Amino acid sequence: MSDERETKNIMEYETVALDDEDNALVILDQTKLPGTAELIRLHTGEEIWEAIYLLKVRGAPAIGVAAAFGIYLLAKQIKTQEYDAFYQEFSRQKEYLNSARPTAVNLSWALNRMEKICTRNSSLPVAEIKKKLKEEAVALKEEDIRVCRAIGEHGLTLVKPGDGILTHCNAGQLATCRYGTATAPIYLGQERGYHFRVFADETRPLLQGARLTAYELYASGVDVTLICDNMSAAVMRNGWVNAVFVGCDRVAANGDTANKIGTSVVAAVAKRYHVPVYVCAPTSTIDLNTPTGAEIIIEQRPPHEVTDMWYEKPMAPAGVKVYNPAFDVTDHDLIAGIVTEYGIAREPYTESLREIFVKHHKLS
Ligand code: MRU
Repeated sequence: MSDERETKNIMEYETVALDDEDNALVILDQTKLPGTAELIRLHTGEEIWEAIYLLKVRGAPAIGVAAAFGIYLLAKQIKTQEYDAFYQEFSRQKEYLNSARPTAVNLSWALNRMEKICTRNSSLPVAEIKKKLKEEAVALKEEDIRVCRAIGEHGLTLVKPGDGILTHCNAGQLATCRYGTATAPIYLGQERGYHFRVFADETRPLLQGARLTAYELYASGVDVTLICDNMSAAVMRNGWVNAVFVGCDRVAANGDTANKIGTSVVAAVAKRYHVPVYVCAPTSTIDLNTPTGAEIIIEQRPPHEVTDMWYEKPMAPAGVKVYNPAFDVTDHDLIAGIVTEYGIAREPYTESLREIFVKHHKLS
């Protein structure tokens, strides 16, 4: 693994890129931010799996794009010219990458899309299938940028100039290929002189809000204030927040939404203070096959992320029991709207989300 160091604004970096000549997936290592902007080059399945598991590349859409480039690179290395043997090895690598993180549906969504390229083109020579896999992965990345921008346009209709916006975790440019999802209305508003005041929750235990959201918004000239996770009630009670925008890792058919741990607390507090909560969700994150939030698998992460990581010395008694779910489910009745690239879904979500899929031929 080699690295590249440059000094430029964080917004000029590509979160995820393909270097086809070098057979490398190139990612901005998010575990090093905000201190160091370091591009790392990943070549093997193990390196890609580890980068996803360790959150070097993170955020549901970025994970999806990384997996698409990753499986293309792994497919490219398969030696056989015989389709069945090729597909068998492709499926093995696909399952391996898919096991890196369970909650963000974009991982399996992107890998399934890549798999369909193989199965639909099984009569073609393997070399042709590999070319099509590359085209699909590149298309997936370009689509992500368009989708995020469209979410931004729809999200922007929900707020007005000068509004206070609270966000949790990082559903920003760093979590996507551009604009972010929850930050897309903020960036588009910034371009149009809306002068939002943004509050970024720090987002314990991995500090995506402090390290990533506050960093990218600040670097973009947005008026951003970093707050600890336990301060959202205080800022809402002060009347400083007009809307909450968050991202998501999986939206169930009834609108229940899994997002970074702590989102449901923000949503419950927001209800108390009559602040609308909007979930920004590309349709790639909406999983109509999962009926409710109860069926969403919540990733459990290791204790050291809570007790030691990001501290100079351990901040909890050695050996203490730790519960570290990476995500929680926000019940659909706490969500004022789900902002997709095709428009805003409202209650009853079972109908409105399905309508979006039917209308845009997204049901397979
Ligand atoms: O564990 P992470 O950092 O991958 O969690 C990310 C989030 O929870 C984001 O809010 C979500 O993936 C949406 S990103 C547009």
